[in-house]
Amino acid sequence: MSEAKTLHDAFLDELRDAYDAEKQLTKAIPKMAKAATSPDLRAAFEAHLEETRGHITRLEEVFAGLDEKIRGKHCDGIAGIIEEGKSVMEEDFDDATMDACLIAGGQRAEHYEMAAYGSLIAWARAMDHTEAADLLQETLEEEKAADEKLSSLAENGINQAAADAAAPEEDQDDDERDKPAAKTPSKATVATKRARRR
Ligand SMILES: [Fe+2]
Ligand SMILES: [Fe+2]
Repeated sequence: MSEAKTLHDAFLDELRDAYDAEKQLTKAIPKMAKAATSPDLRAAFEAHLEETRGHITRLEEVFAGLDEKIRGKHCDGIAGIIEEGKSVMEEDFDDATMDACLIAGGQRAEHYEMAAYGSLIAWARAMDHTEAADLLQETLEEEKAADEKLSSLAENGINQAAADAAAPEEDQDDDERDKPAAKTPSKATVATKRARRR
């Protein structure tokens, strides 16, 4: 019987998986940037594309530090997330809703990466691969920051713009629906409601 594989083998496998995932993302992120309407969202995707290229370089450094050949192994997980993102981009959403969906898809990818790097770092530390752990930690911090940036873009305007596009003004308050006067609220009323929601 052949010897059982070890945590080191699992670690190398996951590194190859992450390497392939990052490569897939360098092809997917430009499409998301192109599909974005908000200039801030597009800029966030473009900035993270640059960081993603850096993640690939860091993984190459990790392989080199372990005297291992640089090699990827198809990552089915990120492929599925990218595939779902593609279907969303094919939908005919209004601009704000498309931006909200791009953020949701982007955050799925970031959380997947955060989970992968979190395990890699813990394993590297457990096996005393300190240099590898430190490199992977730098990447994890950038994934977290990218995720937070997407949250802040969603919460500081994009989600509300999408919600406003979804709800014609006269339907926004259920409790006022039956009152004839509420059907055409004054501009001041609408502004007050918006301010209250923010
Ligand atoms: Fe990454
Ligand atoms: Fe990322």
